[in-house]
Amino acid sequence: MKSNITMELLKLDHAQDLYLLTDSNRAYLKEWLPWLDQIQSVDDTTKFIESTIEVSSSGGAPNFAILSEGAICGVAGFNEINRQHRIGYIGYWLAQKYTGKGVVMQVVKELLRIGFGEFNLNKIEIRCAEGNTKSRRIPERLGFTYEATLRQSEWLYSKYVNHAIYSILSAEYNA
Ligand SMILES: CC(C)(COP(=O)(O)OP(=O)(O)OC[C@H]1O[C@@H](n2cnc3c(N)ncnc32)[C@H](O)[C@@H]1OP(=O)(O)O)[C@@H](O)C(=O)NCCC(=O)NCCS
Repeated sequence: MKSNITMELLKLDHAQDLYLLTDSNRAYLKEWLPWLDQIQSVDDTTKFIESTIEVSSSGGAPNFAILSEGAICGVAGFNEINRQHRIGYIGYWLAQKYTGKGVVMQVVKELLRIGFGEFNLNKIEIRCAEGNTKSRRIPERLGFTYEATLRQSEWLYSKYVNHAIYSILSAEYNA
């Protein structure tokens, strides 16, 4: 990773800064993320972090703060890890002012290393809203295969959006 970008497992110490970052990027993030109305206070961010800690501390899906020169600038990780089928589902977001610099590309490369290397996954999936071309470019550039588009898979405040599904297999990653 570029040396100014680091990742830390989400922890309660991140709550205040993560809430402020979320709140100041609310309008930007609402274009593609469905959960902004559920985050109205630091307590809501704290609850989210607590739930990720509970999962990751028992060996489940890890979620990370993305830091730029030590300041939190986004979140990325696994929304879910299915141990039985060895599939991980990656999600990510970045505050607007940090976008366009390849940050999430770098972070997803690290998540692939963690997913295939540490969690021994067979398949990693990224689901993007069909119209979210900036997000779709990430799996496209990282060698994922486009699998399908699922119809009306997410309610985004006032409308349903379709999901474009991308995946990469362990054998492809290691080739
Ligand atoms: C989608 C999103 C995560 C992309 O983040 P990002 O860090 O800008 O994405 P990337 O890492 O792919 O950066 C790519 C851009 O950086 C540029 N870039 C600069 N240096 C680069 C480098 N070293 N490597 C790769 N790209 C680089 C690329 O040219 C590209 O610019 P472009 O989008 O104008 O083509 C971000 O816009 C976001 O959080 N959006 C809102 C929430 C969201 O949509 N989340 C995803 C839900 S599925």
